[in-house]
Amino acid sequence: MRVIDITQPGGPEVLAIADIATPKPAEGEVLIRVAASGINRADLLQRQGHYPPPPGASPILGMELSGHIAEVGAEVDSRWKVGDAVCALVPGGGYAEYCIANAGCCLPVPKAISLTDAAALPEAVFTVWANLFALSYLRGGELFLVHGGTSGIGTTAIQMAKCFGARVITTAGSAEKCTFCLSLGAERAFNYRDEDWFAEALKWSGQRGIDAILDMVGGDYFPKHLKLLAQKGRLIHIATTGGAVVTADLRAIMLKRLVVTGSTLRSRSVLEKTALRDQIEEQVWPLIEEGKLRPVVDRVFAFYQAAEAHRRMQASTHIGKILLQIDPE
Ligand SMILES: NC(=O)c1ccc[n+]([C@@H]2O[C@H](COP(=O)([O-])OP(=O)(O)OC[C@H]3O[C@@H](n4cnc5c(N)ncnc54)[C@H](OP(=O)(O)O)[C@@H]3O)[C@@H](O)[C@H]2O)c1
Repeated sequence: MRVIDITQPGGPEVLAIADIATPKPAEGEVLIRVAASGINRADLLQRQGHYPPPPGASPILGMELSGHIAEVGAEVDSRWKVGDAVCALVPGGGYAEYCIANAGCCLPVPKAISLTDAAALPEAVFTVWANLFALSYLRGGELFLVHGGTSGIGTTAIQMAKCFGARVITTAGSAEKCTFCLSLGAERAFNYRDEDWFAEALKWSGQRGIDAILDMVGGDYFPKHLKLLAQKGRLIHIATTGGAVVTADLRAIMLKRLVVTGSTLRSRSVLEKTALRDQIEEQVWPLIEEGKLRPVVDRVFAFYQAAEAHRRMQASTHIGKILLQIDPE
């Protein structure tokens, strides 16, 4: 099968098409003929040699995909058959014509969206569900701030938070991006490059503070977040693009009884991911079928344009998910 290979750690130009043996599904796994694969920020780090795949995972890039089941391994739930259209969360291997997925990390492609667009769902929906809803860190009626409102995570978090009854504000890096966030249901969107998002968010909350913040920045946002949170507020970290080492006044955490937490998705066990998959299928998939939640797709690149797709994400001009089309529909 053809894959996108990292010929050596480096810039987008190190990505090249290569031929390798098609893998065989082991117990509990399915082999998927890939239609499309989602590009994630972490792929750029892996390409540069900074983010190795977890032990046992494919060294090929790609953590989410859509396609048709081509082969079913032993001991797989009888619901999955050859030919089923699925999307899947995988620890690696998505930039390829075929990819192995654990059957517990597969979901049916919602009827409301195309097979290609379904590749935009797994990473963002699993991450947002796991960090906001699985442990009830965000509840209906609460005030919610998500940074990076036009990222794959941001576009999903805005819509899901709205669906579950929260009031949402967000940040983004341009006026055009802020306008897009409003169209997704955010009440306010602040351009973090030229607006004081902290003061604006506090004002929007009526000086009461925000109940939950989903953060992909860290760094000097951390002390601001502690100040911005309401009593019993929750600060959830999923990335540290602004810096991983922070200083802050711990008294804010004690006096307001804050929860400061975070998580990574890729390193979780299949058992944990399967439990998330079950919750997502029950709670989130109906929202997609009802048209209340949709994947926001920025651009779809052809398989041979993987380097171009990485350059687009690196430039941060995208709005929503960037996809690689592997097998045209
Ligand atoms: N922990 C986990 O399990 C997990 C899972 C999935 C993703 N993630 C992380 O979540 C982040 C989003 O993922 P993605 O794939 O959706 O990537 P993405 O589309 O590249 O998004 C990155 C976002 O960060 C925003 N940003 C950067 N600096 C900012 C700042 N100072 N203030 C506010 N926003 C800022 C960017 O905004 P502009 O483009 O507008 O500048 C952009 O929207 C990535 O860092 C990714 O690694 C974590």
